[in-house]
Amino acid sequence: MLTQVTLLGARHVFEIDGVEVGTFVALPTQSNDLELWSFEIYPEFRGCGYSGRLLNEVIRMGKNEYPPRGRVLLWVLKDNERAIHLYTKHGFLRAGENEDSIFMELPL
Ligand SMILES: CC(C)(COP(=O)(O)OP(=O)(O)OC[C@H]1O[C@@H](n2cnc3c(N)ncnc32)[C@H](O)[C@@H]1OP(=O)(O)O)[C@@H](O)C(=O)NCCC(=O)NCCS
Repeated sequence: MLTQVTLLGARHVFEIDGVEVGTFVALPTQSNDLELWSFEIYPEFRGCGYSGRLLNEVIRMGKNEYPPRGRVLLWVLKDNERAIHLYTKHGFLRAGENEDSIFMELPL
């Protein structure tokens, strides 16, 4: 039996002028979407407006991959108003929810 493990994604670090200010992990799904598993601006750099630039990198990555991804998907906690505002501002739509979290999608 031949088994194989293939790396299909990785943690990305986001630097501004050589300083690491944030990170994200986005992985392809079986349905050829891109799922955002983790997205963070480090605490000392929050409130500086960097989050939109980082999210644009995620979106660009989805569009530029071959084959291009259909959507960016993510779960966000319902009480994370700052993140929900950010995602909505960038065109993400609510596509579902569970007890604690909202499922959002951005068609690419
Ligand atoms: C979510 C996160 C990436 C946002 O980055 P940030 O640097 O704090 O946010 P920004 O300064 O770029 O502001 C983002 C927007 O949220 C708005 N905002 C700030 N606080 C808010 C609040 N309490 N409610 C609603 N919107 C809020 C800002 O005004 C800004 O909107 P604008 O661009 O329309 O002016 C960052 O706070 C973070 O890393 N948090 C911890 C990890 C996390 O929660 N990740 C998301 C997991 S799904």
